[in-house]
Amino acid sequence: RKIVTIVGARPQFIKAAPVSRVLRRTYQEILVNTGQHYDFNMAGVFFDELQIPRPDYNLEVGSHSHGKQTGMMLDKIEDVLFREKPDGVLVYGDTNSTLAGALAASKLYIPLFHIEAGLRSYNKQMPEEINRILTDQVSDLLFAPTETAVHNLALENIKHHVHMSGDVMYDAVLYNYELAQSKFDVSKYGLSKYAYYLCTIHRAENTDHPERLKAIVESLVRLDLPVIVPLHPRTHRILKEQGLWDFIHRHPHIHLTEPVSYLEMLILEMEAKAIITDSGGVQKEAYFAKVPCYTLRDETEWVETVNIGWNQLIDPFTMDLSAMIKQADLGPYQENLYGDGLASQKIINAIQEYFEN
Ligand code: UD1
Ligand code: UDP
Repeated sequence: RKIVTIVGARPQFIKAAPVSRVLRRTYQEILVNTGQHYDFNMAGVFFDELQIPRPDYNLEVGSHSHGKQTGMMLDKIEDVLFREKPDGVLVYGDTNSTLAGALAASKLYIPLFHIEAGLRSYNKQMPEEINRILTDQVSDLLFAPTETAVHNLALENIKHHVHMSGDVMYDAVLYNYELAQSKFDVSKYGLSKYAYYLCTIHRAENTDHPERLKAIVESLVRLDLPVIVPLHPRTHRILKEQGLWDFIHRHPHIHLTEPVSYLEMLILEMEAKAIITDSGGVQKEAYFAKVPCYTLRDETEWVETVNIGWNQLIDPFTMDLSAMIKQADLGPYQENLYGDGLASQKIINAIQEYFEN
């Protein structure tokens, strides 16, 4: 049987790596890269490092407004599906690449499998929330990483074909951690273990509101230890446009870098004193690394980490990040909030069952 997998953005390359490894033991996989992310350090580096097979199709869609980007992907993915006539289509997460893949497959009545289903922020201002809701509504098999996600789906009357598989990002961490340790040391960036903060920022709600972005930057420069900030190209561009680049660059303890590779990121996360982020994936990786996380958002889909006290939501306008880190009162750590690291195998078993029934 043949499965078409659709990826396109950084976190999707990382999620697809462990799943693809198991999938290819049983199925023919046709890998489609939409090209939503295209810089080497946002895309190519992950294919090399995680040994992801070369895509069968590179759609080279690139950056555009939401409608244009999604529309171009839909058009090109449909051509691939006409040509390949797969038995199923696999999509990941909540990006425009996910939605385009979901629409293309469902309109052609090709079974659609959604990994990381059921996440909700209940904030429809987020483009990702729209992508998730629509993708889940047309999926034939839904792989939820958590019980919360299963519950969210039930609230939308999606109860059948939902599997609590756990999170494939945990599979990826377990598979890569030792390799990462053998290859990378934080001294490369002039940092010492547990004596720096790691920060990532890329969400529209932060980058596209100049006052909010300014407040975030101001809270970073007030921190008591070096801060390494691997910059998403979107944030890089906007910091320059907003005239904030020079301000942040002047501060010797802020290390702005290009986006780093996944293996470097894992070690930077594991050895940080705390992580400050608006990324979905990085919030979970902070939990896997047992490092406290401060999330620059008003709400999160990954509520479990907040419930156990290892993740705190931060409003940069009203809250003092520095004071919060100093006064941190972490609850007891709870293991396995995101499954047992065998999510990929569970997903492939469920797909197998789906075809057999
Ligand atoms: C996208 C996803 C977001 C996800 C993030 C992961 C959507 C709507 N958003 O956001 O959910 O968390 O990826 O990183 O799908 N750019 C480059 N080079 C690249 C890629 C992007 O310069 O290789 C710049 C361009 O200026 C582009 C901007 O980043 O306009 C935004 O890229 P885009 O893919 O539209 O959204 P992300 O912010 O990356
Ligand atoms: N990541 C990376 N290098 C970086 C920043 C992030 O490898 O410079 C990895 C990170 O470890 C995680 C994933 O990218 O696995 C998260 O992607 P991102 O923050 O872009 O998107 P989100 O998870 O918010 O959708």
